[in-house]
Amino acid sequence: MSVRVGVIGLGMGKYHARAYQACKDAELVALCDLDEERLQQMHAQYPQARIYTDYREMFADGGLDAVSVAVPNYLHAEVSIAAMRAGLHVLCEKPMALNSAQAEEMLRVSQETGRKLMIHLNYRFCTASQFLKRHVEEGHLGRIYYAQTRWLRARGIPWRGWFSRKELSGGGPLIDLGVHRLDLALWLMGYPRPLTVSASAFGSLGARLAEEKGVPYDVEDLVAAHIRLEGGIAMTLEVSWAGGTDKREEMHTGIYGVQGAAILRNRNEGYDFEALALQDVAGHLTALEPRVFPPSSTAIDHFVACILEDRAPEPSASQGLFLMRLIEAIYRSAEREREIALSWQD
Ligand SMILES: NC(=O)c1ccc[n+]([C@@H]2O[C@H](COP(=O)([O-])OP(=O)(O)OC[C@H]3O[C@@H](n4cnc5c(N)ncnc54)[C@H](O)[C@@H]3O)[C@@H](O)[C@H]2O)c1
Repeated sequence: MSVRVGVIGLGMGKYHARAYQACKDAELVALCDLDEERLQQMHAQYPQARIYTDYREMFADGGLDAVSVAVPNYLHAEVSIAAMRAGLHVLCEKPMALNSAQAEEMLRVSQETGRKLMIHLNYRFCTASQFLKRHVEEGHLGRIYYAQTRWLRARGIPWRGWFSRKELSGGGPLIDLGVHRLDLALWLMGYPRPLTVSASAFGSLGARLAEEKGVPYDVEDLVAAHIRLEGGIAMTLEVSWAGGTDKREEMHTGIYGVQGAAILRNRNEGYDFEALALQDVAGHLTALEPRVFPPSSTAIDHFVACILEDRAPEPSASQGLFLMRLIEAIYRSAEREREIALSWQD
């Protein structure tokens, strides 16, 4: 038996389509995009798939078990909810939604309909990330007390129009890139709850670069945050689309414990990752197995396997919502220029 899938939104969605096509347990049966040219190009590649410009028609035609939702952020909630109500399991791109209210509604509909809702925080699935997760879970770090996580770009604003308009994207590099780096750091540590956040956000460089291009821009271009987590852990976060580094892409997540550390970073300013599993050996922080891994992702395989085996997929909708709440608190702290306390009732 295989899972019949459709992909909605064929920018990032083309990587979903490729991964479904490569997955032995999935069948790519439908593609949807408003952009006819993109749709035709993808159809030439996957002629077996039915094509649509309206996702509602795609759902109404049936013959689907699941969809990937890879449309701009402002449509994540609307399309995911419509899909779940049509009886489909959903793999939704990050960030889960524009804000926590939308994310809560998505989680509620998933529970009500019994449909699976996974968030595509795909950096967890890199072999380098998986290797470090094992290193942490095996207890090599001892008590964890500090984490640093960042994704900085010298000049890397996505000039697609909707990314830099808050009402369409929910924000700038914090919601776009920060959501990945927050998830990675929290996931490596077992998702401790944030207690307080103190953050600053800046946007004038992005606004100036956007003006030169004639693109609307009302989001931040750089955020720096200090986050206190339960268990006496502190975390720093730095994200930028412009400024803060001289590198094209700089990604770094480090988790520090009293006996060792786990460091995940990109190489050559690109998407190859290096994992350092470090341990204190006679007073020296020694890399146990320094290894470099090629980029890889099995998020799609995991989603498909969870449907076939009726398991709960991760990153879960609850974790997606958790991240939306944290991101909102970071924005709120930056706006009010003071520390914000988070409360977690559920
Ligand atoms: N996980 C990752 O690493 C990663 C990387 C890039 C983008 N993303 C996410 O993927 C999503 C899309 O980003 P992108 O870079 O592909 O943006 P994009 O603008 O390049 O592509 C979005 C596509 O959605 C289509 N679309 C818009 N409205 C639609 C509708 N109502 N029905 C069908 N199609 C519609 C557009 O025509 C376009 O082809 C965003 O949420 C983004 O955050 C995730």
